[in-house]
Amino acid sequence: MKNLAVLISGRGSNFKAINEGIKSGYISNANISVVISSKKDVAGLNYAKDEGMNAFHLDSSDYRSKEIYDMEIKNILDKYRIDLICLAGYMKILTPQLVSAYRSRIINIHPSLLPSFPGLNAQKQAIDYGVKVTGCTVHFVDEKIDHGPIILQWPVNVRDDDTEISLSKRILESEHKLYPQAVKWFVEDRILIKKGKVHIRRS
Ligand code: GRF
Repeated sequence: MKNLAVLISGRGSNFKAINEGIKSGYISNANISVVISSKKDVAGLNYAKDEGMNAFHLDSSDYRSKEIYDMEIKNILDKYRIDLICLAGYMKILTPQLVSAYRSRIINIHPSLLPSFPGLNAQKQAIDYGVKVTGCTVHFVDEKIDHGPIILQWPVNVRDDDTEISLSKRILESEHKLYPQAVKWFVEDRILIKKGKVHIRRS
């Protein structure tokens, strides 16, 4: 059984997709042991509580530094013996100390085909640039923002009449399929990282 932690800051729809993947049996041998939110009273945190999960809100303004805040997060992760940390709309940048403590065990989903359009408002960046295809990426987290070995990507066509809202909606639908798949592969020990690249072992 693999213990998962999900870190969120808002809506939590990807967190919900992962949880539904577990509940349906698509992802087996995994348990969401803890959910940590950097924001109070957000939909994702309420959902975690409704599901009866261990769910915490940690307010960074209660901590003297980013390092101390992340140390508190690490203490929680260690306590629950976490095998995999899923960042799902988590709006904080992890300190190098936390990344290093859980290297190759932290994954993130980003709404673009990385390395294009890292950072905030990736969907708007894609529209503003005028690309015809964008999408979403699940990747391991390293010290750089929206960077690290890529596990899975899915393309989404950009339509002429797309707005940031309409494009985000279609990308999100793909995210909800992609993230559970990446978690499933991780839990099944099928993901290998060799020379900074991900290779998927056949099942
Ligand atoms: C998603 O678009 C994800 O790609 C990005 O933040 C958003 C989170 O949405 N990292 P949700 O909270 O999972 O609904």
